[in-house]
Amino acid sequence: MSQAFDVVVIGGGPGGYIAAIRAAQLGFKVACAESNAFDDPKGEIRLGGTCLNVGCIPSKALLASSEEFEKISHHAADHGIKVGSVSIDSKKMVSRKDEIVTKMTAGIQYLFRKNKITLLKGHASFEGKSTNGYQIKIDGKDQETVSAKNVIIATGSKARHLQGISVDNVLICDNEGALKFDFVPKKLGVIGAGVIGLELGSVWRRLGSEVTVLEALPSFLAACDEGIAKEAQKLFAKQGLNINMGVKIGEVKADKKGVVVNYTDSAGKALKLECDRLIVSVGRIPNTDQLGLENIGLKVDERGFIPVDDHTCATAAPSVYAVGDVVRGPMLAHKAEDEGVLVAEIIAGQKPHIDYNCIPWVIYTDPEIAWVGKSEQALKEAGIAYKAGQFPFAANGRALGMGRADGFVKVLADAKTDEILGVHIIGPNASDLIAEAAVAMEFKAAAEDIARICHPHPSLSEVMREAALATDQRALNM
Ligand code: FAD
Ligand code: NAI
Repeated sequence: MSQAFDVVVIGGGPGGYIAAIRAAQLGFKVACAESNAFDDPKGEIRLGGTCLNVGCIPSKALLASSEEFEKISHHAADHGIKVGSVSIDSKKMVSRKDEIVTKMTAGIQYLFRKNKITLLKGHASFEGKSTNGYQIKIDGKDQETVSAKNVIIATGSKARHLQGISVDNVLICDNEGALKFDFVPKKLGVIGAGVIGLELGSVWRRLGSEVTVLEALPSFLAACDEGIAKEAQKLFAKQGLNINMGVKIGEVKADKKGVVVNYTDSAGKALKLECDRLIVSVGRIPNTDQLGLENIGLKVDERGFIPVDDHTCATAAPSVYAVGDVVRGPMLAHKAEDEGVLVAEIIAGQKPHIDYNCIPWVIYTDPEIAWVGKSEQALKEAGIAYKAGQFPFAANGRALGMGRADGFVKVLADAKTDEILGVHIIGPNASDLIAEAAVAMEFKAAAEDIARICHPHPSLSEVMREAALATDQRALNM
Protein backbone atom coordinates (compact mmCIF):
# COMPACT_ATOMS: atom_id res chain seq x y z
CA MET A 1 0.00 0.00 0.00
CA SER A 2 1.33 3.45 -0.87
CA GLN A 3 2.38 5.78 1.94
CA ALA A 4 -0.15 8.50 2.79
CA PHE A 5 0.85 11.88 4.24
CA ASP A 6 -0.94 14.97 5.47
CA VAL A 7 1.69 17.16 3.81
CA VAL A 8 4.20 16.36 1.07
CA VAL A 9 6.79 19.02 0.36
CA ILE A 10 8.54 18.87 -3.03
CA GLY A 11 12.09 20.24 -2.71
CA GLY A 12 14.48 20.20 0.25
CA GLY A 13 15.83 23.78 -0.02
CA PRO A 14 15.19 26.52 2.58
CA GLY A 15 11.58 26.93 1.44
CA GLY A 16 10.88 23.19 1.49
CA TYR A 17 12.82 21.91 4.49
CA ILE A 18 11.60 24.72 6.73
CA ALA A 19 8.00 24.14 5.58
CA ALA A 20 8.41 20.43 6.40
CA ILE A 21 9.77 21.15 9.89
CA ARG A 22 7.03 23.68 10.70
CA ALA A 23 4.31 21.32 9.40
CA ALA A 24 5.76 18.51 11.57
CA GLN A 25 5.85 20.84 14.60
CA LEU A 26 2.15 21.48 13.99
CA GLY A 27 1.40 17.75 14.26
CA PHE A 28 1.11 16.71 10.61
CA LYS A 29 2.47 13.54 9.08
CA VAL A 30 5.04 15.01 6.69
CA ALA A 31 7.29 13.87 3.84
CA CYS A 32 9.77 15.90 1.84
CA ALA A 33 10.98 14.85 -1.62
CA GLU A 34 14.46 15.81 -2.82
CA SER A 35 16.19 14.61 -5.99
CA ASN A 36 19.63 16.24 -5.90
CA ALA A 37 22.82 14.74 -4.49
CA PHE A 38 24.70 17.93 -5.45
CA ASP A 39 28.38 17.00 -4.97
CA ASP A 40 27.93 14.38 -2.29
CA PRO A 41 30.96 12.07 -2.48
CA LYS A 42 28.78 8.99 -1.90
CA GLY A 43 26.06 10.18 -4.26
CA GLU A 44 23.60 10.46 -1.35
CA ILE A 45 20.67 12.84 -1.71
CA ARG A 46 21.44 16.14 0.06
CA LEU A 47 19.05 18.50 1.78
CA GLY A 48 19.44 22.29 1.87
CA GLY A 49 18.83 23.04 -1.81
CA THR A 50 20.63 25.73 -3.76
CA CYS A 51 21.18 27.87 -0.68
CA LEU A 52 23.11 25.36 1.32
CA ASN A 53 24.84 23.37 -1.43
CA VAL A 54 25.62 25.80 -4.25
CA GLY A 55 24.46 29.22 -3.08
CA CYS A 56 24.33 31.29 0.11
CA ILE A 57 26.48 29.17 2.42
CA PRO A 58 29.38 28.12 0.13
CA SER A 59 29.59 31.61 -1.39
CA LYS A 60 29.72 33.21 2.07
CA ALA A 61 32.41 30.73 3.18
CA LEU A 62 34.57 31.71 0.19
CA LEU A 63 33.83 35.40 0.80
CA ALA A 64 34.97 35.01 4.42
CA SER A 65 38.20 33.23 3.40
CA SER A 66 39.04 35.82 0.78
CA GLU A 67 38.25 38.63 3.23
CA GLU A 68 40.73 37.16 5.73
CA PHE A 69 43.34 36.94 2.96
CA GLU A 70 42.80 40.56 1.96
CA LYS A 71 42.87 41.74 5.58
CA ILE A 72 46.14 39.96 6.31
CA SER A 73 47.85 40.86 3.07
CA HIS A 74 46.69 44.47 2.68
CA HIS A 75 45.28 45.84 5.93
CA ALA A 76 47.34 44.25 8.72
CA ALA A 77 50.08 46.83 8.19
CA ASP A 78 47.57 49.64 8.94
CA HIS A 79 47.26 48.17 12.44
CA GLY A 80 51.02 48.00 12.85
CA ILE A 81 51.02 44.24 12.28
CA LYS A 82 53.90 42.96 10.22
CA VAL A 83 53.38 39.72 8.34
CA GLY A 84 55.72 37.87 6.04
CA SER A 85 54.68 36.86 2.58
CA VAL A 86 51.07 35.73 2.41
CA SER A 87 49.81 33.09 0.03
CA ILE A 88 46.53 31.32 -0.56
CA ASP A 89 46.01 27.57 -0.62
CA SER A 90 42.89 27.55 -2.81
CA LYS A 91 42.37 23.79 -2.44
CA LYS A 92 42.26 24.16 1.36
CA MET A 93 39.91 27.15 1.03
CA VAL A 94 37.52 25.12 -1.16
CA SER A 95 37.70 22.03 1.08
CA ARG A 96 36.91 24.20 4.14
CA LYS A 97 33.84 25.46 2.28
CA ASP A 98 32.85 21.85 1.41
CA GLU A 99 33.20 20.79 5.06
CA ILE A 100 30.86 23.58 6.18
CA VAL A 101 28.29 22.54 3.56
CA THR A 102 28.54 18.85 4.52
CA LYS A 103 28.12 19.69 8.21
CA MET A 104 25.05 21.78 7.55
CA THR A 105 23.33 19.30 5.20
CA ALA A 106 23.87 16.61 7.86
CA GLY A 107 22.28 19.04 10.34
CA ILE A 108 19.07 19.12 8.28
CA GLN A 109 19.02 15.30 8.08
CA TYR A 110 19.18 15.34 11.89
CA LEU A 111 16.30 17.84 12.07
CA PHE A 112 14.24 15.60 9.77
CA ARG A 113 14.83 12.61 12.05
CA LYS A 114 14.05 14.70 15.15
CA ASN A 115 10.77 15.90 13.63
CA LYS A 116 9.89 12.46 12.16
CA ILE A 117 9.82 13.77 8.59
CA THR A 118 10.08 11.11 5.86
CA LEU A 119 12.68 11.92 3.23
CA LEU A 120 11.56 10.71 -0.20
CA LYS A 121 14.69 10.38 -2.31
CA GLY A 122 14.00 11.10 -5.96
CA HIS A 123 12.34 13.40 -8.47
CA ALA A 124 8.74 14.10 -7.46
CA SER A 125 5.93 14.76 -9.91
CA PHE A 126 2.15 14.93 -9.79
CA GLU A 127 0.40 11.90 -11.24
CA GLY A 128 -3.07 13.20 -10.49
CA LYS A 129 -5.79 13.38 -7.84
CA SER A 130 -7.17 10.54 -5.78
CA THR A 131 -9.61 10.11 -2.92
CA ASN A 132 -6.68 10.71 -0.53
CA GLY A 133 -5.71 14.03 -2.12
CA TYR A 134 -2.88 14.02 -4.65
CA GLN A 135 -0.84 11.13 -6.05
CA ILE A 136 2.86 11.97 -6.22
CA LYS A 137 5.32 9.79 -8.04
CA ILE A 138 8.85 9.59 -6.63
CA ASP A 139 11.39 8.67 -9.26
CA GLY A 140 14.60 7.65 -7.52
CA LYS A 141 16.60 4.50 -6.81
CA ASP A 142 13.26 3.08 -5.70
CA GLN A 143 10.10 4.10 -7.48
CA GLU A 144 7.05 4.78 -5.39
CA THR A 145 3.83 6.73 -5.45
CA VAL A 146 2.66 8.46 -2.29
CA SER A 147 -0.51 10.35 -1.53
CA ALA A 148 -0.78 13.77 0.09
CA LYS A 149 -3.74 15.74 1.44
CA ASN A 150 -1.69 18.93 1.02
CA VAL A 151 1.30 19.62 -1.22
CA ILE A 152 3.88 22.38 -0.91
CA ILE A 153 5.91 22.93 -4.10
CA ALA A 154 9.35 24.32 -3.20
CA THR A 155 11.37 23.28 -6.23
CA GLY A 156 13.50 26.43 -6.35
CA SER A 157 15.49 27.74 -9.30
CA LYS A 158 18.49 27.12 -11.51
CA ALA A 159 20.95 29.42 -13.24
CA ARG A 160 19.74 31.06 -16.45
CA HIS A 161 22.15 30.45 -19.32
CA LEU A 162 22.63 32.59 -22.42
CA GLN A 163 21.94 31.26 -25.89
CA GLY A 164 25.14 30.28 -27.69
CA ILE A 165 27.22 30.19 -24.48
CA SER A 166 27.72 26.63 -23.38
CA VAL A 167 28.28 26.33 -19.64
CA ASP A 168 30.57 23.34 -18.92
CA ASN A 169 31.19 24.36 -15.29
CA VAL A 170 34.93 24.07 -15.88
CA LEU A 171 35.91 26.95 -18.18
CA ILE A 172 32.53 28.64 -18.44
CA CYS A 173 30.68 28.40 -15.15
CA ASP A 174 27.40 29.25 -13.51
CA ASN A 175 27.22 29.38 -9.70
CA GLU A 176 27.86 25.63 -9.40
CA GLY A 177 31.24 25.62 -11.19
CA ALA A 178 32.24 29.05 -9.88
CA LEU A 179 32.16 27.76 -6.30
CA LYS A 180 34.63 24.99 -7.13
CA PHE A 181 37.67 26.78 -8.62
CA ASP A 182 40.65 25.30 -6.81
CA PHE A 183 43.15 27.79 -8.22
CA VAL A 184 43.13 31.56 -8.55
CA PRO A 185 42.39 32.41 -12.19
CA LYS A 186 44.80 35.05 -13.46
CA LYS A 187 42.04 36.67 -15.46
CA LEU A 188 38.38 36.14 -14.59
CA GLY A 189 35.49 37.31 -16.76
CA VAL A 190 31.98 37.73 -15.33
CA ILE A 191 28.83 38.27 -17.41
CA GLY A 192 26.23 40.08 -15.29
CA ALA A 193 26.95 42.67 -12.57
CA GLY A 194 24.18 41.35 -10.32
CA VAL A 195 24.42 39.83 -6.87
CA ILE A 196 26.32 36.66 -7.84
CA GLY A 197 28.67 38.47 -10.24
CA LEU A 198 29.63 41.03 -7.59
CA GLU A 199 29.97 38.55 -4.71
CA LEU A 200 31.98 35.92 -6.59
CA GLY A 201 33.88 38.58 -8.54
CA SER A 202 34.90 40.03 -5.14
CA VAL A 203 36.13 36.62 -3.89
CA TRP A 204 38.56 36.16 -6.76
CA ARG A 205 39.56 39.83 -7.01
CA ARG A 206 40.64 39.72 -3.34
CA LEU A 207 42.72 36.62 -4.04
CA GLY A 208 44.52 38.31 -6.91
CA SER A 209 42.48 37.67 -10.07
CA GLU A 210 42.11 40.46 -12.58
CA VAL A 211 38.29 40.59 -12.72
CA THR A 212 36.31 42.12 -15.59
CA VAL A 213 32.52 42.32 -15.24
CA LEU A 214 30.36 42.81 -18.34
CA GLU A 215 26.83 44.11 -17.66
CA ALA A 216 24.08 44.65 -20.24
CA LEU A 217 22.17 47.39 -18.38
CA PRO A 218 23.39 51.00 -18.44
CA SER A 219 22.75 51.56 -14.73
CA PHE A 220 24.63 49.78 -11.94
CA LEU A 221 22.63 47.73 -9.36
CA ALA A 222 19.29 48.99 -10.62
CA ALA A 223 17.41 47.31 -7.73
CA CYS A 224 19.32 49.38 -5.11
CA ASP A 225 18.75 52.89 -3.92
CA GLU A 226 20.52 55.10 -6.49
CA GLY A 227 22.75 56.81 -3.90
CA ILE A 228 23.94 53.46 -2.57
CA ALA A 229 24.53 52.07 -6.09
CA LYS A 230 26.61 55.12 -6.99
CA GLU A 231 28.75 54.78 -3.86
CA ALA A 232 29.16 51.02 -4.45
CA GLN A 233 30.27 51.51 -8.05
CA LYS A 234 32.87 54.06 -6.91
CA LEU A 235 34.21 51.83 -4.11
CA PHE A 236 34.31 48.64 -6.23
CA ALA A 237 36.20 50.50 -9.01
CA LYS A 238 38.69 51.74 -6.37
CA GLN A 239 39.21 48.12 -5.26
CA GLY A 240 40.11 47.18 -8.84
CA LEU A 241 36.90 45.48 -9.98
CA ASN A 242 36.66 46.42 -13.67
CA ILE A 243 32.91 46.88 -14.29
CA ASN A 244 31.70 47.67 -17.81
CA MET A 245 28.07 48.77 -18.16
CA GLY A 246 25.83 48.77 -21.25
CA VAL A 247 27.70 46.01 -23.10
CA LYS A 248 26.28 43.59 -25.64
CA ILE A 249 27.71 40.09 -25.48
CA GLY A 250 28.60 38.49 -28.84
CA GLU A 251 30.33 35.22 -29.60
CA VAL A 252 31.99 33.38 -26.71
CA LYS A 253 34.64 30.77 -27.50
CA ALA A 254 36.41 28.40 -25.14
CA ASP A 255 39.42 26.18 -25.74
CA LYS A 256 42.32 24.75 -23.74
CA LYS A 257 43.92 28.20 -23.47
CA GLY A 258 40.84 29.79 -21.89
CA VAL A 259 37.79 31.79 -22.89
CA VAL A 260 37.36 34.67 -25.33
CA VAL A 261 34.28 36.88 -25.01
CA ASN A 262 33.50 39.15 -27.94
CA TYR A 263 31.33 42.10 -26.98
CA THR A 264 30.52 45.67 -27.87
CA ASP A 265 30.85 48.41 -25.26
CA SER A 266 28.21 51.06 -24.50
CA ALA A 267 29.50 53.19 -27.43
CA GLY A 268 29.14 50.24 -29.81
CA LYS A 269 32.88 49.59 -30.10
CA ALA A 270 33.77 45.93 -30.72
CA LEU A 271 36.01 44.54 -27.96
CA LYS A 272 37.37 41.20 -26.83
CA LEU A 273 37.89 39.87 -23.29
CA GLU A 274 40.36 37.04 -22.86
CA CYS A 275 40.14 35.19 -19.55
CA ASP A 276 41.07 31.89 -17.89
CA ARG A 277 37.58 31.35 -16.50
CA LEU A 278 34.20 32.92 -17.22
CA ILE A 279 31.27 33.14 -14.79
CA VAL A 280 27.82 33.59 -16.32
CA SER A 281 25.53 35.11 -13.67
CA VAL A 282 22.58 36.61 -15.49
CA GLY A 283 19.71 35.62 -13.19
CA ARG A 284 17.87 32.43 -12.32
CA ILE A 285 14.85 30.57 -13.66
CA PRO A 286 12.25 28.56 -11.69
CA ASN A 287 12.39 24.73 -11.63
CA THR A 288 9.06 23.56 -12.97
CA ASP A 289 10.18 20.98 -15.54
CA GLN A 290 8.64 17.55 -15.34
CA LEU A 291 6.63 18.36 -12.24
CA GLY A 292 3.44 17.03 -13.83
CA LEU A 293 1.65 20.31 -13.10
CA GLU A 294 -0.63 19.65 -16.10
CA ASN A 295 -1.90 16.50 -14.33
CA ILE A 296 -3.50 18.65 -11.63
CA GLY A 297 -4.58 21.49 -13.93
CA LEU A 298 -1.82 23.97 -13.01
CA LYS A 299 -0.08 26.24 -15.52
CA VAL A 300 3.09 28.33 -15.12
CA ASP A 301 3.18 32.01 -16.11
CA GLU A 302 5.09 33.40 -19.12
CA ARG A 303 8.36 33.43 -17.11
CA GLY A 304 7.93 29.89 -15.82
CA PHE A 305 6.83 30.79 -12.26
CA ILE A 306 3.91 29.05 -10.55
CA PRO A 307 1.18 31.70 -10.01
CA VAL A 308 0.15 31.95 -6.35
CA ASP A 309 -2.08 34.11 -4.18
CA ASP A 310 -0.21 37.23 -2.98
CA HIS A 311 -0.93 36.52 0.68
CA THR A 312 -1.33 32.75 1.09
CA CYS A 313 0.97 31.21 -1.58
CA ALA A 314 -2.04 29.06 -2.61
CA THR A 315 -1.98 27.86 -6.23
CA ALA A 316 -5.09 27.43 -8.38
CA ALA A 317 -5.25 23.74 -7.30
CA PRO A 318 -6.98 23.20 -3.94
CA SER A 319 -4.56 22.37 -1.06
CA VAL A 320 -1.51 22.88 -3.30
CA TYR A 321 0.81 25.73 -2.33
CA ALA A 322 4.10 26.97 -3.80
CA VAL A 323 6.89 28.89 -2.04
CA GLY A 324 10.37 30.29 -2.56
CA ASP A 325 12.22 30.81 -5.83
CA VAL A 326 9.54 29.00 -7.84
CA VAL A 327 7.03 31.84 -7.19
CA ARG A 328 6.96 35.65 -7.54
CA GLY A 329 9.05 37.92 -5.34
CA PRO A 330 12.74 38.10 -4.55
CA MET A 331 14.83 34.94 -4.88
CA LEU A 332 16.12 34.97 -1.31
CA ALA A 333 16.55 32.12 1.15
CA HIS A 334 14.89 33.96 4.06
CA LYS A 335 11.87 34.85 1.88
CA ALA A 336 11.57 31.16 0.92
CA GLU A 337 11.81 30.12 4.59
CA ASP A 338 9.17 32.61 5.71
CA GLU A 339 6.81 31.45 2.98
CA GLY A 340 7.42 27.84 4.05
CA VAL A 341 6.41 28.66 7.63
CA LEU A 342 3.43 30.71 6.42
CA VAL A 343 2.02 27.86 4.29
CA ALA A 344 2.48 25.20 7.01
CA GLU A 345 0.58 27.46 9.43
CA ILE A 346 -2.17 28.17 6.89
CA ILE A 347 -2.64 24.40 6.39
CA ALA A 348 -3.01 24.16 10.18
CA GLY A 349 -5.79 26.77 10.07
CA GLN A 350 -3.72 29.64 11.47
CA LYS A 351 -3.67 33.16 9.98
CA PRO A 352 -0.01 34.10 9.45
CA HIS A 353 1.10 37.09 7.40
CA ILE A 354 4.24 38.18 5.55
CA ASP A 355 4.94 41.85 4.90
CA TYR A 356 6.97 41.60 1.69
CA ASN A 357 7.94 45.27 2.05
CA CYS A 358 9.94 44.34 5.16
CA ILE A 359 12.09 41.60 3.60
CA PRO A 360 15.71 42.70 3.82
CA TRP A 361 18.21 42.35 0.97
CA VAL A 362 21.95 41.95 1.43
CA ILE A 363 24.81 41.90 -1.06
CA TYR A 364 27.87 40.44 0.65
CA THR A 365 30.53 42.55 -1.03
CA ASP A 366 32.99 44.67 0.92
CA PRO A 367 31.56 46.94 2.05
CA GLU A 368 28.30 45.05 2.36
CA ILE A 369 25.15 46.53 0.89
CA ALA A 370 21.81 46.00 2.66
CA TRP A 371 18.38 47.49 2.44
CA VAL A 372 14.78 47.10 3.47
CA GLY A 373 11.71 48.96 2.23
CA LYS A 374 11.55 51.57 -0.49
CA SER A 375 14.40 53.33 -2.29
CA GLU A 376 14.42 57.09 -2.90
CA GLN A 377 13.66 56.57 -6.60
CA ALA A 378 10.69 54.28 -5.77
CA LEU A 379 9.26 56.86 -3.34
CA LYS A 380 9.67 59.63 -5.94
CA GLU A 381 8.00 57.47 -8.59
CA ALA A 382 5.09 56.74 -6.24
CA GLY A 383 4.76 60.46 -5.42
CA ILE A 384 5.28 59.87 -1.67
CA ALA A 385 6.65 62.88 0.21
CA TYR A 386 9.63 61.75 2.31
CA LYS A 387 12.61 63.07 4.23
CA ALA A 388 16.06 61.51 4.06
CA GLY A 389 18.72 61.31 6.76
CA GLN A 390 22.21 60.08 5.96
CA PHE A 391 25.20 59.46 8.22
CA PRO A 392 28.69 58.25 7.22
CA PHE A 393 30.66 55.45 8.91
CA ALA A 394 33.67 57.81 8.64
CA ALA A 395 32.19 59.78 11.59
CA ASN A 396 31.80 56.67 13.79
CA GLY A 397 34.57 55.80 16.23
CA ARG A 398 34.01 52.03 16.07
CA ALA A 399 34.16 51.98 12.26
CA LEU A 400 37.37 54.03 12.34
CA GLY A 401 38.86 51.71 14.95
CA MET A 402 38.04 48.73 12.76
CA GLY A 403 39.57 50.46 9.74
CA ARG A 404 36.19 50.01 7.98
CA ALA A 405 34.93 53.55 7.58
CA ASP A 406 33.64 53.47 3.96
CA GLY A 407 29.94 53.97 3.32
CA PHE A 408 26.87 55.33 5.08
CA VAL A 409 23.38 54.61 6.39
CA LYS A 410 20.39 56.34 4.82
CA VAL A 411 17.00 56.44 6.54
CA LEU A 412 13.93 57.46 4.53
CA ALA A 413 10.87 58.51 6.53
CA ASP A 414 7.40 59.76 5.63
CA ALA A 415 7.46 63.57 5.48
CA LYS A 416 4.23 63.87 7.50
CA THR A 417 3.99 60.83 9.79
CA ASP A 418 7.74 60.16 10.23
CA GLU A 419 7.12 56.41 9.63
CA ILE A 420 10.26 54.69 8.33
CA LEU A 421 9.74 53.83 4.65
CA GLY A 422 13.17 52.49 3.78
CA VAL A 423 16.67 52.00 5.20
CA HIS A 424 19.71 51.63 2.96
CA ILE A 425 23.19 50.75 4.13
CA ILE A 426 26.54 50.45 2.45
CA GLY A 427 29.19 49.76 5.03
CA PRO A 428 30.72 47.28 7.49
CA ASN A 429 28.39 44.57 8.89
CA ALA A 430 25.45 45.97 6.92
CA SER A 431 23.95 42.44 6.89
CA ASP A 432 23.58 42.54 10.68
CA LEU A 433 22.73 46.23 11.01
CA ILE A 434 19.78 45.93 8.60
CA ALA A 435 17.95 43.61 11.04
CA GLU A 436 17.25 46.61 13.32
CA ALA A 437 15.66 48.43 10.38
CA ALA A 438 13.54 45.38 9.46
CA VAL A 439 12.27 45.10 13.05
CA ALA A 440 11.54 48.82 13.16
CA MET A 441 9.60 48.69 9.90
CA GLU A 442 7.62 45.59 10.96
CA PHE A 443 6.56 47.54 14.07
CA LYS A 444 5.78 50.60 11.89
CA ALA A 445 8.34 52.62 13.84
CA ALA A 446 9.03 56.28 13.16
CA ALA A 447 12.55 57.64 12.58
CA GLU A 448 12.06 59.39 15.92
CA ASP A 449 11.71 55.96 17.63
CA ILE A 450 15.14 54.86 16.40
CA ALA A 451 16.55 58.26 17.29
CA ARG A 452 15.28 57.95 20.89
CA ILE A 453 16.39 54.36 21.50
CA CYS A 454 19.69 54.03 23.36
CA HIS A 455 22.31 52.36 21.12
CA PRO A 456 25.55 50.89 22.52
CA HIS A 457 28.73 52.94 22.28
CA PRO A 458 31.03 52.50 20.52
CA SER A 459 29.17 50.46 17.93
CA LEU A 460 28.32 50.56 14.26
CA SER A 461 24.64 50.68 15.22
CA GLU A 462 25.12 54.30 16.31
CA VAL A 463 25.31 55.17 12.60
CA MET A 464 21.71 53.95 12.24
CA ARG A 465 20.60 56.18 15.11
CA GLU A 466 22.48 59.19 13.72
CA ALA A 467 20.91 58.63 10.25
CA ALA A 468 17.46 58.55 11.93
CA LEU A 469 18.30 61.81 13.73
CA ALA A 470 19.53 63.25 10.41
CA THR A 471 16.02 62.90 8.90
CA ASP A 472 15.23 65.84 11.18
CA GLN A 473 18.62 67.57 10.75
CA ARG A 474 19.52 66.54 14.32
CA ALA A 475 22.56 64.29 13.81
CA LEU A 476 24.74 64.83 16.86
CA ASN A 477 28.17 63.88 15.63
CA MET A 478 28.19 65.67 12.30
P1 FAD B 1 16.17 25.84 -3.68
O1 FAD B 1 17.13 26.20 -2.63
O2 FAD B 1 16.59 25.99 -5.11
O3 FAD B 1 15.76 24.33 -3.40
C1 FAD B 1 14.92 23.63 -4.23
C2 FAD B 1 15.23 22.16 -4.08
O4 FAD B 1 14.23 21.42 -4.75
C3 FAD B 1 16.56 21.74 -4.71
O5 FAD B 1 17.33 21.04 -3.76
C4 FAD B 1 16.16 20.84 -5.88
O6 FAD B 1 17.10 19.81 -6.11
C5 FAD B 1 14.82 20.30 -5.40
N1 FAD B 1 13.93 19.89 -6.47
C6 FAD B 1 13.59 20.60 -7.58
N2 FAD B 1 12.66 19.93 -8.30
C7 FAD B 1 12.41 18.77 -7.62
C8 FAD B 1 11.54 17.69 -7.85
N3 FAD B 1 10.69 17.65 -8.88
N4 FAD B 1 11.55 16.63 -6.96
C9 FAD B 1 12.39 16.64 -5.87
N5 FAD B 1 13.22 17.68 -5.61
C10 FAD B 1 13.22 18.73 -6.46
N6 FAD B 1 19.80 34.02 -0.87
C11 FAD B 1 19.93 34.71 0.28
O7 FAD B 1 18.92 35.01 0.92
N7 FAD B 1 21.17 35.06 0.77
C12 FAD B 1 22.31 34.76 0.11
O8 FAD B 1 23.39 35.09 0.56
C13 FAD B 1 22.21 34.05 -1.11
N8 FAD B 1 23.31 33.72 -1.80
C14 FAD B 1 23.20 33.00 -2.96
C15 FAD B 1 24.37 32.70 -3.66
C16 FAD B 1 24.29 32.02 -4.85
C17 FAD B 1 25.56 31.68 -5.59
C18 FAD B 1 23.02 31.59 -5.34
C19 FAD B 1 22.91 30.79 -6.61
C20 FAD B 1 21.86 31.89 -4.66
C21 FAD B 1 21.94 32.61 -3.46
N9 FAD B 1 20.80 32.97 -2.74
C22 FAD B 1 20.91 33.69 -1.59
C23 FAD B 1 19.45 32.60 -3.19
C24 FAD B 1 18.95 31.35 -2.44
O9 FAD B 1 19.86 30.31 -2.62
C25 FAD B 1 17.58 30.96 -2.94
O10 FAD B 1 16.70 32.06 -2.88
C26 FAD B 1 17.01 29.84 -2.10
O11 FAD B 1 17.85 28.71 -2.15
C27 FAD B 1 15.61 29.46 -2.57
O12 FAD B 1 15.12 28.42 -1.78
P2 FAD B 1 14.05 27.37 -2.37
O13 FAD B 1 13.78 26.43 -1.27
O14 FAD B 1 12.94 28.11 -2.99
O15 FAD B 1 14.81 26.64 -3.57
P1 NAI C 1 20.82 39.12 -10.77
O1 NAI C 1 19.44 39.25 -11.27
O2 NAI C 1 21.17 39.64 -9.44
O3 NAI C 1 21.82 39.83 -11.79
C1 NAI C 1 21.92 39.46 -13.13
C2 NAI C 1 22.59 40.58 -13.89
O4 NAI C 1 22.90 40.10 -15.18
C3 NAI C 1 21.67 41.79 -14.05
O5 NAI C 1 22.36 42.96 -13.68
C4 NAI C 1 21.33 41.76 -15.53
O6 NAI C 1 21.09 43.04 -16.07
C5 NAI C 1 22.58 41.11 -16.11
N1 NAI C 1 22.36 40.49 -17.41
C6 NAI C 1 21.29 39.78 -17.82
N2 NAI C 1 21.46 39.37 -19.11
C7 NAI C 1 22.68 39.81 -19.49
C8 NAI C 1 23.44 39.69 -20.69
N3 NAI C 1 22.96 39.04 -21.76
N4 NAI C 1 24.65 40.28 -20.75
C9 NAI C 1 25.16 40.95 -19.67
N5 NAI C 1 24.47 41.09 -18.51
C10 NAI C 1 23.26 40.52 -18.41
O7 NAI C 1 21.16 37.57 -10.93
P2 NAI C 1 22.34 36.68 -10.36
O8 NAI C 1 23.50 37.49 -9.97
O9 NAI C 1 22.50 35.59 -11.35
O10 NAI C 1 21.70 36.10 -9.06
C11 NAI C 1 20.46 35.40 -9.12
C12 NAI C 1 19.66 35.59 -7.89
O11 NAI C 1 20.21 34.84 -6.83
C13 NAI C 1 19.65 37.02 -7.36
O12 NAI C 1 18.69 37.81 -8.01
C14 NAI C 1 19.30 36.82 -5.93
O13 NAI C 1 17.92 36.71 -5.82
C15 NAI C 1 19.95 35.50 -5.61
N6 NAI C 1 21.21 35.75 -4.90
C16 NAI C 1 21.14 36.40 -3.70
C17 NAI C 1 22.29 36.70 -3.01
C18 NAI C 1 22.18 37.45 -1.73
O14 NAI C 1 21.09 37.54 -1.20
N7 NAI C 1 23.27 37.98 -1.20
C19 NAI C 1 23.60 36.31 -3.48
C20 NAI C 1 23.56 35.67 -4.78
C21 NAI C 1 22.39 35.39 -5.43
